[in-house]
Amino acid sequence: MSPATSDPISLTRFLIEEKRAGRINPELRLLIEVVARACKRISVAVGKGALGGVLGDAGSPGAASINIQGEAQKKLDVLSNEILLEANAWGGHLAALASEEMDHSQPIPDVHPRGNYLLLFDPLDGSSNIDVNVSVGTIFSVLRCPEGVTTPADEHFLQPGTAQVAAGYCVYGPQTTLVLTVGHGTHAFTLDREVGSFMLTVRDMRIPEDTREFAVNASNQRFWEPPMQAYVGDLLAGKDGPRGKDFNMRWIASMVADVHRILTRGGIFSYPLDSKCASKGGKLRLMYEANPMSFLVEQAGGAASTGRQRLLEVQPTGLHQRVPVFLGSKREVEVAVRYHLAHA
Ligand code: AHG
Ligand code: MN
Ligand code: MN
Ligand code: MN
Repeated sequence: MSPATSDPISLTRFLIEEKRAGRINPELRLLIEVVARACKRISVAVGKGALGGVLGDAGSPGAASINIQGEAQKKLDVLSNEILLEANAWGGHLAALASEEMDHSQPIPDVHPRGNYLLLFDPLDGSSNIDVNVSVGTIFSVLRCPEGVTTPADEHFLQPGTAQVAAGYCVYGPQTTLVLTVGHGTHAFTLDREVGSFMLTVRDMRIPEDTREFAVNASNQRFWEPPMQAYVGDLLAGKDGPRGKDFNMRWIASMVADVHRILTRGGIFSYPLDSKCASKGGKLRLMYEANPMSFLVEQAGGAASTGRQRLLEVQPTGLHQRVPVFLGSKREVEVAVRYHLAHA
């Protein structure tokens, strides 16, 4: 991991240089700038908290607002979704958008020009942490609109993660940090709050291949499949067990914050299949959580798997499809996969 040079590089300059190097086109550059601008607005809203009246549940008492996942929406889930929709509607770079908080994708309205990209997002990740002042974030994924499609529908988004042209997240924590890939490494930009610009702070993040740290919601242990039980059992056995080393555990319960830790210092993040979520295929959503995070992690030298298959190669069948997730330090993900394949 090389620190940024003393010559400060803003996100705008970084993207212009990527364009000059032929790695992105002007439309994709604009798209990323617009998403970053929306993230700044979400960061401001998150930062105001109770002062901005943005905490708590959406809807009214006794009439909670529920999204297509069956989750009660927070006010910030709804607000962040609106900020992203509004920011991206008129730029001319997008053909359609899809979000965790919307039942179906939305083509860009006819009053605005349509571009060539599809944008998917989790507007506010880590809803359970909003009201307790713990890091939350925004996750996004960019796909190409299939050739000849003028009014994209849900089916046009159903492309495997390998088809992503860009992905990123913005974590709203002690610092607001945007982490981005356009398929040439994973880079971190910290928001300079006084200036209002994202500044490159880590070029080419690298995830250590080995780790002694894992992240899982251990309260689900009794619901896990046998291979997961065996894998975590061996992690917990520490240096006297088959792994021969002690492991530490961390679970923030905001995927953005857990993945940011892994991109920063290594580790394995998992949300495995369990008997509570098995009928849905997992807990995390493939298109706007697992795929963008897997792209970022692979671009930083890590690995991402369902436990049985490379995550980016899963062929999607639904916009809100769920999937088991193992991602992070390459050799540790390979170990977790071995347990699953051995029990196949
Ligand atoms: P979201 O808030 O966008 O619905 O996502 C929540 C996800 C993810 O951020 C996190 O890793 C996981 O849910 C936490 O799940 P548990 O509450 O089961 O630990
Ligand atoms: Mn949610
Ligand atoms: Mn989420
Ligand atoms: Mn969310």
